[in-house]
Amino acid sequence: MTSVLSDRINQMEESATLAMAKKARELKAQGIDIISLSLGEPDFKTPKHIQEAAKASIDEGKYFAYPPVAGYQDLREAIAKKLREENKIADAKAENIVVSTGAKHSIANVFMCMINEGDEVVIFSPYWVSYAEIIKLAGGIPVTIEGSLENNFKATAKQLEEAITDKTKAIIYSSPCNPTGSVFSKEELEAIAEVVKKKENLFVIADEIYELINFTGKHASIASFPGMFERTITVNGFSKGYAMTGWRVGYICAPLFIAKACEKMQGQFTSGGTGIAQRAALAAISGDQTASKEMEKAYLNRRDLVLKLIQEIPGFKTHVPEGAFYFFPDITYFFGKSANGFTINNADDFCIYLLEKANVSLVTGEAFGAPNCVRISYAASEEELVEAMKRIKEACANLK
Ligand SMILES: Cc1ncc(COP(=O)(O)O)c(C=O)c1O
Repeated sequence: MTSVLSDRINQMEESATLAMAKKARELKAQGIDIISLSLGEPDFKTPKHIQEAAKASIDEGKYFAYPPVAGYQDLREAIAKKLREENKIADAKAENIVVSTGAKHSIANVFMCMINEGDEVVIFSPYWVSYAEIIKLAGGIPVTIEGSLENNFKATAKQLEEAITDKTKAIIYSSPCNPTGSVFSKEELEAIAEVVKKKENLFVIADEIYELINFTGKHASIASFPGMFERTITVNGFSKGYAMTGWRVGYICAPLFIAKACEKMQGQFTSGGTGIAQRAALAAISGDQTASKEMEKAYLNRRDLVLKLIQEIPGFKTHVPEGAFYFFPDITYFFGKSANGFTINNADDFCIYLLEKANVSLVTGEAFGAPNCVRISYAASEEELVEAMKRIKEACANLK
C-alpha cells in the first residue's frame, strides 16, 4: 500500500531526546520513580521580571494582533545592540535580525532558505540532533567531521578543509556545544574562519544558544571576525540562558538578503513569533542579567559535582565540559557486558538498561553522531544528580 504520509516525513528520524523524555514521562505516570537526565531543558523557572513583563504586556492589550513577521522593532533593536556590544558583531543592525519561534525554528528557516537539492552542509560532530534532519528535509546532504574524546570532541579547521567540496554550501556547529559541552576558543574559530573564507559563497551557521552558560568566561562569535559578518548566520535564543524553553523565542542575525529570505519563509509558515513571548524576550535581553548569571553559577557547581561522581564510576571516560549543561562520556567499556540476562551491545542498549534497571533516563550518543557515548544532562537539582549517579554506579557495577 502506498503511504498516505509523505516521503519527507517517513524519512525523518524522530527527535531522540524528545523520544527518551516521552518514555521517561510514561514510566513516571505508571508511578515509577524515574530521574530524567535526558532533556536539554533548564530546571529553573523563568526569572520573575521576565514573567512580569509578559503579564504587563497582556494588561497593556497592545500585543494581541499578528506581530511584524520578523519580530517587534524594539526587540530586534535590543538584540542588535547586544550583538554589537557584547558579541562585537559591529555590523549587526535591527534589519539583520529575524525573531522566530525558537532557535530550532530559526535554523529550519535558514536551511529552507539556503539549501538546494544536493547541497552539502558540514556538521561538526558530535552534533545537536535536529541539524541533520532539518538539512535533509531541505534537500541537503549532511557531511560530518568528527571530534574525538582526546580533543574534547572538537573537530578542527583542518578536518573542515578536507571535507569541503564544490557542493558545500554551509557549515554548522554549536558552541558551547550540545551534546559535549565543549567551547570553541577564539583561536579555534579564527582557524575555521580562515578556511571558510577561502571558498566563495560558503556560509557559517553559528549556533550560540548556550552562550550564557559558558564557564570559560570567554564567548567568541565568529561573525565578529574580519570578513565574516557577510558569511555568518548567528543563531541564538532565550530558551537556555533565561530558562525560557516554553516561551519559544529565538533569532538569527544574518546578512540582509538572508534575513529577508527568512522573513519571507516564516511569513508563509508562522506569521512570526508570539507577541507576548516577544515582550518577555525584550525584558530578558535588556533587563537585569543577575538571574542568568546565578543560573550559570549553579550549572558550574553541578558540573563539578557530576564530574566527581562520574570519575568514581569505573568504565566512564569523560572530558571536562566548559559550557552548556551536559556530560558526554564514552561508555564502550560496557559493550559486551551483561546483567540479569540483559547484554549491552551499544549505547542504545546502555540507555535502555539504565532506564529499566536504574530508573535514570539518559540519551544515546547515536542520536548525536557518536555511538560510543551517552549524554547526561545536569539541568537537575543536586539531590537528583547525586541520587541518579548513585543508581547509575550501582547498575554499572552489576554489568559483568
Ligand atoms: C544546540 C541547540 N540549538 C538549538 C536548540 C533549540 O533551541 P530553542 O528552544 O530556542 O528552539 C537547542 C535546544 O535544545 C540546542 O541544544
